[in-house]
Amino acid sequence: MDYVDFIKEYHLDKHKNLESNIADFYRQTNTLSTYRHCWDVAKEAIKLDNWFKEDLYIAGLLHDISAFIPTSCRLEVSQALNIPILEEEQEFPLLLHQKLSAYIVKKCFKINDAKTISAIKCHTTLRGNFTDFDLALFLADKIAWDQPGIPPYLSKLETSLNSSKEAAALVYIDYLFNNGIKIIHPWLRSAKEELEAK
Ligand SMILES: [Fe+2]
Repeated sequence: MDYVDFIKEYHLDKHKNLESNIADFYRQTNTLSTYRHCWDVAKEAIKLDNWFKEDLYIAGLLHDISAFIPTSCRLEVSQALNIPILEEEQEFPLLLHQKLSAYIVKKCFKINDAKTISAIKCHTTLRGNFTDFDLALFLADKIAWDQPGIPPYLSKLETSLNSSKEAAALVYIDYLFNNGIKIIHPWLRSAKEELEAK
């Protein structure tokens, strides 16, 4: 598959609604297990926010839409699409999936809602100056993680959620820092500093 051509030439089915088009995309790209994870994330996200439930649900469904691009191709595809790449992303291209997802959401799904694009773009790392919408998607992705079993940080994260979403996010980020995180993305570092200051 030529990933760049696929993205550039993708057309939505005008006879179907957005959710059906999203399901079609995961089906066509053979990433139905990612779709199931995204569905779980969407359901968690709307529990965490009282204002933008519809947009958060869609952001949840779409946040990992770039999963069909293998990690080994993410750098090359990002370069071909003129996506700005940080040094840390060059070293650890897995991290590029959040920017690639945001690109695909704009290009293929014609969604330009700033809060949706921002949250998808930082759903793995969070960022400095994050919004409540960013925080809700970030946390939902950690609660409904994409790996088997129960996340080791989950019970502490859920307890902290009783105080605030910020406290819960810090539980997850501290877990990463205490468990041999390979590359520290600068957005994650800024988010951590900001959360600690609060
Ligand atoms: Fe995810």
